[in-house]
This record gives sequence, C-alpha cells and structure tokens, in this order.
Amino acid sequence: MAQIKSAGVIGAGVIGSGWIARLLLNGVNVCVFDPSKEAPKNVDKVIQNAERAYKNLLKSKLPEKGNLTFAKTITDVSKSSELIIEAVPERLSAKQSVYDEIESNGSKDLIITSSTSGILPSDLQSEMKHPERLIVAHPFNPVYLLPLVELVGGKQTAHEVIDKASTIFTHIGMFPLQIKKEIPAFIADRLLESVWREALWLVNDNVATTEEIDDAIRYGFGLRWAQMGLFETYRLAGGEAGMRHFISQFGPCLEWPWTHLMDVPEFTDELVDKVSSQSDAQSGQYSIDELMQKRDDNLVDFLKALKENRWGAGNLLKEYDEALSNAANKLEFSELDLSQPIDTYSTHIPKEWADYNGHMTEARYLDCFSEATTELMSIIGADEEYIAKVGSYFTVETHIRHLDEVLIGERIYSKTQVIYGQNKKLHLFHWLHHNDGRLLATAEHMLIHVDLKTRGASMPSDLVMDRMERIYNAHKNLPKPEGISRAVGDKV
Ligand SMILES: NC(=O)c1ccc[n+]([C@@H]2O[C@H](COP(=O)([O-])OP(=O)(O)OC[C@H]3O[C@@H](n4cnc5c(N)ncnc54)[C@H](O)[C@@H]3O)[C@@H](O)[C@H]2O)c1
Repeated sequence: MAQIKSAGVIGAGVIGSGWIARLLLNGVNVCVFDPSKEAPKNVDKVIQNAERAYKNLLKSKLPEKGNLTFAKTITDVSKSSELIIEAVPERLSAKQSVYDEIESNGSKDLIITSSTSGILPSDLQSEMKHPERLIVAHPFNPVYLLPLVELVGGKQTAHEVIDKASTIFTHIGMFPLQIKKEIPAFIADRLLESVWREALWLVNDNVATTEEIDDAIRYGFGLRWAQMGLFETYRLAGGEAGMRHFISQFGPCLEWPWTHLMDVPEFTDELVDKVSSQSDAQSGQYSIDELMQKRDDNLVDFLKALKENRWGAGNLLKEYDEALSNAANKLEFSELDLSQPIDTYSTHIPKEWADYNGHMTEARYLDCFSEATTELMSIIGADEEYIAKVGSYFTVETHIRHLDEVLIGERIYSKTQVIYGQNKKLHLFHWLHHNDGRLLATAEHMLIHVDLKTRGASMPSDLVMDRMERIYNAHKNLPKPEGISRAVGDKV
C-alpha cells in the first residue's frame, strides 16, 4: 500500500502521465499541472493503458483508485501534495523555474523529485532555497510497468530524503536503485546512450537498417539482458571458468576498434531522414497506440514469467502482489465473521485464461477453486510454512458446476462454506461470483489431511484442527448450499 495519500506531478507528457497512472492505481490522489490543453486527454489514455496492463499483471486487488485533479498553477499543486514529481522537458532552466515556483509557496519539507534523464541533481538544486529536499528519481517508460527508478542525490541532498523517497517508491511497486555518485545520465542512460550511438553509426554508414538493428537486439541479447543483465550474462559466457575466463578471452577485443565509442554521427538532415523513413518502413503499419499496447502485453508476460521463475524483476512483482493482497484482505482469524461463508479469493481474469470463445476456459474454474481452497487452508493455519514442516490437505474428490461465463479482464471473487471439518477430513463448498454478483460456478471438494513425509493420511496439528472445527461448528448451522452433492448423473 502506498505510503503517501497525495502527490503532485508537474508536466504530464510521456513520463508524467506514466507517473500519474502508477500513483493513481496505487491509491494515491494526484494533482497535476501541465499548460498543454491536450494533457488531460493524453493522461486519460495512459491511465486506460495502465489499467488494462495491471489487470493482466496482478493477481491481487489494487487499492481504491486515487482521485485525479488538474490544477491551474504549480502553486495549487504544491499546496495539496506530500511529494512533487517534476517531469517537464529536459532543460535545466525550465526545471529550475518549476522548483522556484514550488518553493515560493509549498512547505519546505515537501520532497521534490526530478525525472531528468541525465542532468546532475547538484545543478538542478543549485538555485534552490531548500536544496536538501531535491533528488533525481529517473524512471523508465512506461513508468506504470517498468519498476526501475534511479535515485540520485546532489551535493546538497539530505540522506533522509533519499531514504524517504526510496520507501515511497517501493510501496508503489518500484525498484529504487540508489546511485552513490552523481554522474551525468546516471547508470542506465549511460549504457543506453552507448548502444544508441553505435546504432546511429550503423545506420549512418549503411551497415544496417533500423529493423536489422532491432532484430539483432530482440532475437538475441535483449532477451538475455531482461533477465540477467550484463555481468551475469557474461559470467555464463565464460563457461565453468566464469568471469575470469570471459575477460581473458574477450577482454583484448576491447582494444580492437570494434566500436565508435565517443564519436557521435552528426544529425544531418540526411541522417534524420534516413532513420525516420527506415523506422516508418519498419513499424509504420502500426499506430502508436497499437505499439504501446503490444509493448505492454509483452512486458506484462515477461514480468509474469520472471515471477513464476522467482527471478530478477519477477521477485519484486511477487513481493508487490503479495503486499497488495495482504493490504486488501488479510484479517486475523479472530476477526473473521464465521457466521457467514468466508471470502477466499478474488482476481481479474488474465488473458491467458481465455479460450477461443474469449471467456475463461473450464480448467481455470478449477484453478480459481484451488486458490480458494489454498486460502481457506491458510486461514486455518495450513499455510506455506505448515506445508513445509507438517503436512497438507490433498483433494480426493471434486465436483464443479459451470453456470455462467466470465471474460478477460473482468473481476471475480469466491466465498467458501465448510460443510464438514473434523479429524482428517475437510469438506468444502465454494461459490465463484462475477464482480457484478452473478454466480459463475460452484465447486465441492473433499480433502484429506496428509503427512508429507509418509504421504499417508494423518491428523492435522492442534491449531489447524481447532480452527477448522470452529469454522465447521459455525457453518453447520447455515443452510445447505443449493447444488450440494450434485453429480452429472447417468440416464442410462
Ligand atoms: N521519454 C522518456 O522515455 C523519458 C524517460 C525517462 C525520463 N525522461 C525525462 O522526463 C522528463 C519529461 O520527458 P517527457 O518525455 O515526458 O517529455 P514530454 O515532452 O513528453 O512531456 C513534457 C510535458 O511537460 C509539459 N510542460 C512543459 N513546460 C511545463 C511547465 N513549465 N510546467 C508544467 N508542464 C510543462 C509539456 O506540456 C509536456 O506535456 C524529461 O526530463 C526527460 O528527460 C523521459
């Protein structure tokens, strides 16, 4: 859950809109200033894209969306914000005049972050009255999906401001990378600029087209970089002998003139025309909107694959998703209302759960019920730790009724009644509902407690047994669910 309730964003272009979407979807109220009349429309489009992406990315429910307001002046933004994010064009003077206006009206403790791609924070803060509260927080497009934000303090930035900003960004699902030493363009843009410069040379010298260069990245090392970066990838390139072997083999190549390095091709009209027309030939058949949605879909699926593999940015996504889930619905056992069926699961339908009819495929109904059972188990104390040390419940019988359809992106939730819960047996009945209240399916399961060492039936721990019985004793007075004990039947 976000640590702050309100934020201001100055400049709502590509990057500002991405910040706005990430903040709003994490429940932060956002006040925006941008002189462009087009800004509200552009921001709205980016928020829609972000909502679309998050429905596929996250299992957990996001907090209530924050409120978006557009202010007439920077002063109005400063008065209503706990943090200000500056995302105006990359000119020192433009950024400094924004800070000047914030400082003449906002509280002196207000943290100001600049989205600059490369200007030194010491230069940004040089004219400020309270320079200690300014840091660079350099994000990556699309800000609502890419977790990295480079945090760079200037000579006058207070350490606690960096720490505070770091915590704020962590709570909205980001990966704040604190950069110890300020250098122009920080870490990521240093690396990107070297690749960009080489790519321009290759086009300029008619070695390759824009498409061939993109192919060289996206069919090869770009895939490696997304999951292991540079050094871990090269460690593997050295084989069993690792990095030392890699350096001894490829280190000398750095002395051959493979690259142009510091030289920059001059942006003549001819070069600009060549790059632009090649780019049109490569991608002109798609609108920018189509490309943005394709990019988002691919990024979401990469991130989900990394989450499954518990690796890199996927670890961060897993932690963020779990934190959202905990914030959304985790009650202590003593706080649960046992006089009713229990809330067990809720999610958006991700696109890979749909079949050719565009609705959730039948196997995914069982996935949802399995998640509901896992949550019920966790409520009675048979959680991950218990399963690792003591035992688990194995399902021995299942009956599902598929009653209605649900489409990609729609939200569902489940409720669970304990029909029987004593000794080794746990008999559950789940209802799966659409967010609009429609009943989509029911499931009935019989589970047996199993010792995971002997793989045989066993008694649960005292705690699990006690909680299971307390729910059972409360639920046995509820009406029998409609559809219980149904079978498909056989007319033969
Ligand atoms: N585009 C990227 O991929 C990217 C990535 C990371 C960081 N950045 C950095 O983010 C900042 C913004 O870049 P962008 O790509 O979003 O630019 P952009 O041109 O898309 O947007 C800039 C916005 O600022 C508004 N603006 C201009 N003057 C203003 C003022 N005085 N007050 C308020 N708003 C004002 C403009 O109307 C425009 O909407 C730059 O510092 C850039 O280096 C950009």
